[in-house]
This record gives sequence, C-alpha cells and structure tokens, in this order.
Amino acid sequence: MRLRELDPDPIAQFRAWLREAEHATARPEAMVLATATAAGQPSARVVLLRGLDERGFVFFTNRESRKGEELAENPRAALVFHWPELGRQVRVEGDVQLLPEDESEAYWRSRPRGSRLAAWASPQSRPLARSELDRLYTEAAQRFGAGDVLLPPFWGGYRVVPLAVEFWLHRENRLHDRIRYRRAAEGWLRERLAP
Ligand SMILES: Cc1cc2nc3c(=O)[nH]c(=O)nc-3n(C[C@H](O)[C@H](O)[C@H](O)COP(=O)(O)O)c2cc1C
Repeated sequence: MRLRELDPDPIAQFRAWLREAEHATARPEAMVLATATAAGQPSARVVLLRGLDERGFVFFTNRESRKGEELAENPRAALVFHWPELGRQVRVEGDVQLLPEDESEAYWRSRPRGSRLAAWASPQSRPLARSELDRLYTEAAQRFGAGDVLLPPFWGGYRVVPLAVEFWLHRENRLHDRIRYRRAAEGWLRERLAP
C-alpha cells in the first residue's frame, strides 16, 4: 500500500475500504467504540456505523448509557474497524458531538417498530432482571398502542469528528503497512508508521 495511491481525503479512502468490506465480511459497519471517563478510565464496546460524511462517523445509542455518560463528561472517542478477511484495520480518533435532533429523528424513523419499543423499554447499562426488561417492553408496547413510537428524549446519535485516521494493511513477515492521516490547519497530513 503506497501513500500516493491512497486518497488524500481519509473519509474518501475509508469509503473505498468500507465498500470492499461490504463484499468480504458479514458486519462491515461494526466498530469498536472506546470512550473514557473524565478521570481517564477507558471502556469499549461494539456499535454500528450508521452514517458517514465529510463531518464524521455517526452511531446511535441511549444517551443515558455508560458510553453516553462518559461522552457527556469527556466528549472524545476512538473507533476501530477490523475486517480480517481483507487483512485490514482502520482506527479513528476524534471529538464527539451530539447529532442534531432532526438527524436522530430521521434515523429513528427507519428503525423497525420492535427496535423503537426496545429503546424505550431498556434502561441501557443499568442492572435489571430479564423479567423486568420483558415487563418494560410490554409496558412500552401498551403505551404506544397502534400509534407512532416517538423518539425518546434520552436516545439519539453521536458524530465522531476525526482528528486522526489510520489505515492498516496486513503484509508478510509482519511488515504491515500503516498510513496515518492527521487533521492540519488546511487539509490532512499523511505519514507512514512502523508496524
Ligand atoms: C454487532 C453489535 C452491534 C451493536 N450495535 C450497537 C449500537 O449501534 N448501539 C448501541 O447502543 N449498542 C450496540 N451494541 C451493544 C453494545 O455493544 C453495548 O452492549 C451497549 O451499547 C451498552 O454499552 P455501554 O454500557 O458501554 O454504554 C452492539 C453490539 C454488537 C455486538
């Protein structure tokens, strides 16, 4: 992988790799999201990439979850995509913004009714018995009846605005390729890193 063959824009380069991953792997949009408390205690979990444009990488979740609380006190995150079938990894680091409500609403509308009810029912990241979760789901279903399942005030999207993006490609003898993009005053700086 030569630096000059990569797109100067990391989002365009990411899109190209994501498109290839779509043909190679079952869940190409699955990414590890790492967050941390204000004190620096890290935590990580898988979420799905649900939006991508020049502004950044979008995912959706319960804003009162553990990740939501960590992002409220420390709005920075790292993402990792791993596509083993292609021998590729992408790392993203950046600042995190709340997605505007109209964008969360648009995605919410695309979710199946059952998923929307589950978002209302689940106090994500809180201890709870299975029977309690089932009861909360039934309660949500009854509350909305046949009507529209509205966007919960505690649920929505986040955008990870990238400051650095690294493309990693498996090569023989562990002489892997690593190209890192870093946001500069104008455009992006690129450099090769030792594997
Ligand atoms: C393949 C996969 C996709 C997932 N996608 C999401 C997602 O898009 N949003 C989300 O809130 N949780 C998603 N989860 C669940 C999270 O990994 C996690 O359990 C949950 O968000 C609670 O995390 P937290 O307690 O750190 O906030 C996904 C899990 C897996 C395995």
